[in-house]
Amino acid sequence: MLRRRHGIWMEESTGKSLSTLAAKRLRGRLRTLAELDGLEKDGFPLGWRRVTRTKADEKRLRRVLDATHAYDTLLLLGIGGSDLGARAVLQALPPKKRVLFAGANTDPDELEALYSMVDWKNTCVNIVSKSGDTLEPMSAFLVARERLKKAVGKGYASRIVATTDASHGTLVRWAEAEGFLRLVVPSDVGGRFSVFSDVGLFPAAWSGVDTRGLLRGAAMAMRADWPVRWAALHAEAYLQENRSVWVCMPYAAHLASVAFWFAQLIGESLGKTTEVGPSPLPALGATDQHSLVQLFMQGPMDKILTFLEVDRFSSCLVVPRAPSVADALAPLAGIPFEELIHAERRATADALWAAGRPSVTLHLPRLDAMAVGELLQGFMVATAYLGQWLEVNAYDQPGVEDGKRRFKAWLAARAG
Ligand code: PA5
Repeated sequence: MLRRRHGIWMEESTGKSLSTLAAKRLRGRLRTLAELDGLEKDGFPLGWRRVTRTKADEKRLRRVLDATHAYDTLLLLGIGGSDLGARAVLQALPPKKRVLFAGANTDPDELEALYSMVDWKNTCVNIVSKSGDTLEPMSAFLVARERLKKAVGKGYASRIVATTDASHGTLVRWAEAEGFLRLVVPSDVGGRFSVFSDVGLFPAAWSGVDTRGLLRGAAMAMRADWPVRWAALHAEAYLQENRSVWVCMPYAAHLASVAFWFAQLIGESLGKTTEVGPSPLPALGATDQHSLVQLFMQGPMDKILTFLEVDRFSSCLVVPRAPSVADALAPLAGIPFEELIHAERRATADALWAAGRPSVTLHLPRLDAMAVGELLQGFMVATAYLGQWLEVNAYDQPGVEDGKRRFKAWLAARAG
């Protein structure tokens, strides 16, 4: 166990199943991030490793923030990498202003229910699509644009922020034609790696989240050793022990969306051939101790778990004394909830260890912007290593593109 004074630290409960020797062997093969430069030269989109912003980046963002700060609500439309990162950040670090999400589904009931409660006069819309023509968010955007137009008239375009490629795609052309505000998804940053570009930073900054802290944390992840150790353990568990189900189980409700972001990052980056593809599984502690944990504890030995633990919660809530009729609960009196949730995570990890089932716990000192930045960027670093070790291209998504292509083909056929 290696504990750092600042930042995230990783605790391993890998039991006898992942021998120290095996872990050492893999660590011996660790590559440095600099080695990824070779891949960049081959055209891989590795811009996500830049965790500093240029003056031009900041100026562009500031201009859009100034133009939109007066509105009460931001409606963010996107899917996949254009959605999940912002959701993860804004759930982990509750925003000071209201951000609503749509466009990640074409369920008409869900969309209508959301849109019918939007106060369009006080709302600005952020349509996010790197390609600029993904049908789910674009359909939701077409409706949003109409409702906005109806509510505010001619000025509607100045309330729309288009985050997309700088020069390619339908959305950038549309933004130019109608005069939307514009932000950029850099061409060398892929969707699921884009949370620290304008894609995630705009909604975070707009709603008052500490974006400097996020980027400082992301920079820490580039120097930290836990992402590499986490990747090594997972590669070893996968290659040597067929542990193909990778559970991400935060013991903090505010990190639930991080587990879904993780699922996309791992699934879409590493699931590439019939031979290779760990299956990510999001779960939530302590809730799933009364559900999925049964499977983790006694089901197939095909899993490795990652717990996310917040060492210090903000709230100091304590369990009050129980009335005498409930004297079985008397020992709970005076215990901080923080202690309860830590004890539950430890008990689950210990029980899994005792049953020869490996887990790691990533300890976040606090649920603040730096920790969230380090966590997300650290998982991206780990995914980059895993792509190399598992010998797959972690940056493309031909399966997803195939689905998009068929959906568009259906549309073209329907239009005649
Ligand atoms: O990670 C990815 O590349 C995908 O999940 C995309 O983010 C997703 O398909 C949305 O694409 P776009 O941003 O082009 O609308």
